[in-house]
Amino acid sequence: MSAPPRLGVLISGRGSNLQALIEAAAAGTLGAEIALVVSNVAGAAGLERARAASLPAHVCEHRGLPRAEHEARVLEILRAGGVNLVALAGYMRLLSGAFVHAVPGPVLNVHPSLLPAFPGVNAQEQALAHGVKVSGATVHLVVEELDAGPIVLQEAVPVREDDSVESLAARILEAEHRIFPRAVRIVASGRYRLEGRRVVVEETT
Ligand code: GRF
Repeated sequence: MSAPPRLGVLISGRGSNLQALIEAAAAGTLGAEIALVVSNVAGAAGLERARAASLPAHVCEHRGLPRAEHEARVLEILRAGGVNLVALAGYMRLLSGAFVHAVPGPVLNVHPSLLPAFPGVNAQEQALAHGVKVSGATVHLVVEELDAGPIVLQEAVPVREDDSVESLAARILEAEHRIFPRAVRIVASGRYRLEGRRVVVEETT
């Protein structure tokens, strides 16, 4: 049996999705080894979660650096750690096409809406303002265009009449925590193929 993929997790903040990945790895259900965590924000709470799980936690601040220079530094960390699968877990940076292509292996992102509805920032606020009755979470493969890559998994979440942005975000977050580790497992297994935009899962384990 070949070694499981080495997952690099990029974060910017709280890190609750990172925590879901850590817990799946500990339970043996992630299908990947978390090799390292990189945050572009020095004080990100997620860094503490990484350290508590004894994971290498790197800070690579973007402030004051041209985008290309920051991305080159992140890439260097990923390469040095032997990463061959990347998860964006609340990583609040736009990625250049050059970075997406240079990253070793597939890149997954978790987004708090049912894409292609409500891409970009404040997705939960956009959903409430639009008046949708159902929203949810999406995990997709990252391509150059923002929040537009092939969809690996989605979970729908009801929008209630009395929802605030916070209450809706909290409900969606629970769905994110369920589908992100499952999507990592699918992609880590390599048992999927792309048919146009469709991610076809060939076998689940
Ligand atoms: C999540 O809602 C994620 O979908 C979005 O940013 C949030 C990050 O939360 N991109 P956390 O840092 O994983 O707790």
